[in-house]
Amino acid sequence: MTTFGTPLSPHATKVMLLGSGELGKEVLIALQRLGVETIATDRYDNAPGQQVAHHARTITMSDPAQLKALIEKEQPDLVVPEIEAIATAMLEELEAAGTVRVIPTARAARLTMDREGIRRLAAETLGLPTSPYVFCDSLQELQAAIDSKIGYPCIVKPVMSSSGKGQSKIASPDDVKKAWDYAMAGGRVSHGRVIVEGFIDFDYEITQLTVRAVGADGTIETHFCEPIGHIQVSGDYVESWQPHPMREAALKKSRDICKAVTDNLGGQGLFGVELFVKGDDVWFSEVSPRPHDTGMVTMCTQWQNEFELHARAILGLPVNTALKSPGASAVIYGGVDAEGIVFDGVAEALRVPNSDIRLFGKPESFVKRRMGVALAFDADVETARVNAKKAAALVKPRKAG
Ligand SMILES: Nc1ncnc2c1ncn2[C@@H]1O[C@H](COP(=O)(O)OP(=O)(O)OP(=O)(O)O)[C@@H](O)[C@H]1O
Ligand SMILES: [Mg+2]
Repeated sequence: MTTFGTPLSPHATKVMLLGSGELGKEVLIALQRLGVETIATDRYDNAPGQQVAHHARTITMSDPAQLKALIEKEQPDLVVPEIEAIATAMLEELEAAGTVRVIPTARAARLTMDREGIRRLAAETLGLPTSPYVFCDSLQELQAAIDSKIGYPCIVKPVMSSSGKGQSKIASPDDVKKAWDYAMAGGRVSHGRVIVEGFIDFDYEITQLTVRAVGADGTIETHFCEPIGHIQVSGDYVESWQPHPMREAALKKSRDICKAVTDNLGGQGLFGVELFVKGDDVWFSEVSPRPHDTGMVTMCTQWQNEFELHARAILGLPVNTALKSPGASAVIYGGVDAEGIVFDGVAEALRVPNSDIRLFGKPESFVKRRMGVALAFDADVETARVNAKKAAALVKPRKAG
C-alpha cells in the first residue's frame, strides 16, 4: 500500500481496530497522522481509541456474526486486532474469501488468542526453549501433571486469559486446589482448560519488540528494537524501561527466537515477544502480534514508538527502530472503583524532570485498572525509572465530587 486516499472520501485508506484500549488509541493516533480513515471497535462505548477515531463501533467482537456483519458493512482495507478475545475463526474465513486483510495474519491472531496454540507452535513445531508445560482439563489432571512432569514450584494459567487474570504460583501440594479454583474463576471463556508451567527462576525478563516491514526491494525485513526490561506484579506489568542491558549471547539467542516465531506467524506489523533470561539461557514465554503494554515506554525512548512502527509496518511503509534516549514507564492504576473519576496532581507529575504522562480516558475506573502511564527519559535508565515512578505516584485518581 503506497498510495493513500483522503479520509472520509470514496478513496480513503480505511483501517479498523478490533479493540480500542490505550494501546489501540495510540495506534489510531499514529494512523490519523498518516491520513488514514479509522474505525475504532470495542465492546463498550467511549473506549479510549473510540475517542480519537473517525468512527466508533460497539459490538461483541467474540461473536462471529456481529464481527462479520461489521467488517462487511465498513469494508476496511485492513483489520487490526488489538485484543485476543475475538472470533478469530471468522477472521480466517473472511481473509480466505479475500474480504479483508488481517494484521499480521488471521492465523497469527488465532494462534495467539489462547496459550495452547502459540505454546505448541513455539515448543513443538519450532523447537524453541520454553518452560516445561502440560495442558489440563480438571483438578485431577493438574495434580497428575505436577506429580509426573512439572514439579514444584509451578504456575497455573487459564489458557484464555491476559494481564495475569486467573494466574497463580503453586509452591506446594496445599496450593493446587486453590490455584485450580482461581484459574476457573479468572479465565476469559469458561471452558475450564489450564496450562501448568514449570517455574523459571530467571534473572530478568524482557519484551523484544520485533517488526516485520516491507523493505525497498519489496521483501519483508525484520527489525529489532532495543530490549525492554519490565517488572510484573501478579502477572500485570507495573514498570518498564529501555534499553535493558544484555550479554551478547543472550541478546543473539533472544533475537533468533523472535525471528523464528515471527517468520512463522508472518504478515506485516510489530510483535511483542516475551522472553525469560538467566545468564546466557533464554526461554520463549509468549508473543503478542501487536504493540505490547510494556512497550509504552517507547513513547519517550524511540524516534518512532511501537504504535507508529506498527502503523507504518502494516501500511507497507519503512520503519526506524532506533533508540532516541534511555527511559522508563510506570503504570497509573485507578485505585478506586468508580465512573468518571478525576485526576489530581497532573501538573506536579509533569514537573518531574523529563517526564510525560498519558491519561487513557477510560469511562470507568477499577482499583486495579490501568488508567494512565507516566514516562520519563534520562541519560541513564536508573534515573528514568526513579522519575517515572515519582511522576506516576504524583497523579492521584479519585472519585469525582
Ligand atoms: N513459567 C514461568 N516461570 C516464571 N515466571 C513466570 C512463568 N510464567 C509467567 N511468569 C511470570 O508471570 C508473568 C505473566 O505471565 P504471562 O505473560 O504468561 O501472563 P499474561 O496473563 O499473558 O500476562 P500479560 O497479558 O500481562 O502478558 C510473566 O511476565 C512472568 O513474570
Ligand atoms: Mg505476558
